[in-house]
Formats: sequence, C-alpha cells, structure tokens
Amino acid sequence: MSNPPVKVPYLDLKAQYRSIKPEIDDAVSKVLESSEFVLGSEVAGFEREFAAYCETTECIALNSGTSALHLALLAAGVGPGDEVITVPFTFVASVAAVLYAGATPVLVDIDPRSFNMDPAAVEAAITSRTKAILPVHLYGQPADMDPIMEVARRHGLVVIEDAAQAHGAKYKGRQVGSIGDIACFSFYPTKNLGAYGEGGAITTSNAAYARKIRMLRDWGQDRKYHHVLRGYNYRMEGLQGAILRVKLRHLEQWTEARRAVVSQYNHQLTDCDIERPVEMPWARHVYHTYTVRTVERDSLQTSLVAQGIQTAIHYAEPAHLQPAYADLGYAEGAFPHAEAAARQVLSLPIYPELTAEAIAEVARAVKNAVGRKAGAPIAQPVV
Ligand SMILES: Cc1ncc(COP(=O)(O)O)c(C=O)c1O
Repeated sequence: MSNPPVKVPYLDLKAQYRSIKPEIDDAVSKVLESSEFVLGSEVAGFEREFAAYCETTECIALNSGTSALHLALLAAGVGPGDEVITVPFTFVASVAAVLYAGATPVLVDIDPRSFNMDPAAVEAAITSRTKAILPVHLYGQPADMDPIMEVARRHGLVVIEDAAQAHGAKYKGRQVGSIGDIACFSFYPTKNLGAYGEGGAITTSNAAYARKIRMLRDWGQDRKYHHVLRGYNYRMEGLQGAILRVKLRHLEQWTEARRAVVSQYNHQLTDCDIERPVEMPWARHVYHTYTVRTVERDSLQTSLVAQGIQTAIHYAEPAHLQPAYADLGYAEGAFPHAEAAARQVLSLPIYPELTAEAIAEVARAVKNAVGRKAGAPIAQPVV
C-alpha cells in the first residue's frame, strides 16, 4: 500500500530559501563575478563572523563537519595508540573521526534525560592512553560541560566539542564552540546553519591549534607548495562561505522561531503518552530536532506516516552496534541508555518556518496515534 500524500514534511529547505532569496542570489552572483571559488574573501569573512558569534578568537572553515572532527583530533595530537572517549548515541561521524586519526574510540553511556554524554561515566573510562574527550551536543542541547572539563583538566586531556547540531546553543550562558579546547561544526544543508552543499568549521581560542588546522586543511602548506605537514584538501568553497554569511545573520531569529515551535508542541502534547524533550537547567537548547520518546516508537511512526506526517529517527542503531564498527568490541547491552534511546526516539517535523496550523496537525496526529498497540488499526487521518 502506498503512503498518503505528505501534509507536513519533516523539513522544508525551500521555504527558507524563498524567505532570503534576494540576499542569497546576490551573494552567489558576487562570488561568480569574483571567481573566488575556494577559500577567498567570503570564506575569510565568514570565519571572522562565526568566531565572533561563537565567542572564540579563531574559526577555520572546512568542507564538512567530519573533516572538522578529523583535524581537531590531529591538532590535539591524537594518533595511533591513543584513546578518545565519546558516546555511542550520535551520528556515526563522531566515532569514525577517531578512527580516521588512527586512534581508538572508547565509548561511555548517555544520560537518558539529555541524550548526551553522562559525565559520571567518563572518569572510569580514562586509561593511560586517553588523550581526549569528545562530547556531542546532540539534537542541539549542550552536554553537561562543567564536570567534563573538570575531569579533563585533572587528567590533562583535550576536550573537543562535537557541536555539529548545536549552532548557537548555550551552556550556562556560554556559546557552545567556546567551552572545550576545540569545537567542530557541520553546515550540512539540513543543519540549523546549513550551507547549500557540504561545509564545516572548527572554532577555538588556541592560536597554535588554529595555525596547525589552517595548514592541515590546505595540504599542510605554510606557504605555497611548501608542505611542512602531511595535510588534506578540506577547504571550504567560496560559494558556501558567502551563503553562510547571509544565513548567519538570520540564525538567531531562526533559533527563536524553532524555540517557539517547541513551546507550541510542548503545550499541545502535554496530555499525551509520550516523553517530550527536556531542556536541561544549564541549556539554551537550539532544537536541531524535536525528539520525543515512546516505547511504541515504530507504531507511532507508522501511524504518523499514514496521517501524512513525516518523521525521522536519530538514530535507530547506536555506533557500537553498527556492522562497520563491530570490531570496537562492544556487545549488545554495553550501553543500556543509548540502546533504549535508539529503540524509542522519534523526531517530529521542526524548522523555523513551520506554521501554527502544521504544528497543530502534527500534535493532533500524535495524540490520535499514541496509546495504540502496535499492529492495531490506525485511525483515519485528521483533516
Ligand atoms: C553529531 C554530528 N557529528 C558530525 C557530523 C558530521 O558532519 P558532516 O555531515 O558535515 O560531515 C554530523 C552531521 O551529520 C553530526 O550530526
């Protein structure tokens, strides 16, 4: 049986483009005129503006968030024989980047309320080989950074924030990206600050790290065709820099719009049998996703599809249970909170342009579906 037409998409990138079309078109045509296609003045301008936004002295623009993680680890001196502590409940890049650097990911479980690294689990995972801790600000909510920084300082470890989903989030009033020693962002098109193609960046206030990362992103050159490090081609394109400069000017307003969507969802989903996302006391959550939780996740998703509501699952398999990472050596049951979350989470549609009618439509559909046993007939779509 084919699915009914989509009434509320999970995401609508076209709506956002339409809202800023003249500014974007102008920025794109300026790059075409200047022909500064790789790095160049727009990328340099974006680096200055994003560093200021993140409250750091340095930003290095790259071609993806994955490249950012890779170079952050290399700048921190992570290499073969080292261990890096991170979480299994994340997009797989957080774990894979540690392997890119030739090191071993050591995983710790999450706090089930925030879905982020449980600081209490970190200390027990530290060995003489541990070099860095890599917390992820999942879904746009900062991890609990104070206890993570405290344990890192006590053991002489570098902290690398994976802020790929958390542009503009705050921890106790401080911008993510400025809390650890180095931070990594993704500008994949669906992100809160998304390029029109691939993109990423590192922020840091450590000038030595920044210098090394700048060289590594451009073939390890300190001047043209003189290669002092074995580097990579991880440079940001000029078009993406120009587009991101335009979009950065709108980011705060878009974040507030996301937070307004969340207030409406929270209000309309109070009396129904799902767990709503929790904004931790330290957080300004930027709601990259609005992720609810229920033991009947799969039947809820099926029912929502039948009612024309698109959803997403972030993420149905934790990293340690992915076939590609089986050799990390963790069995099922190793991280009970991550594994339960993977079975229970469902992300509802969220984007700044989501209308009040669409929010009400989604809330009605969720209420129509929850409590229903898996496999039972699904109610008629609400029209
Ligand atoms: C938590 C997290 N880390 C890293 C990445 C990798 O970023 P990119 O897709 O830009 O390489 C992503 C993006 O999907 C992510 O969500």
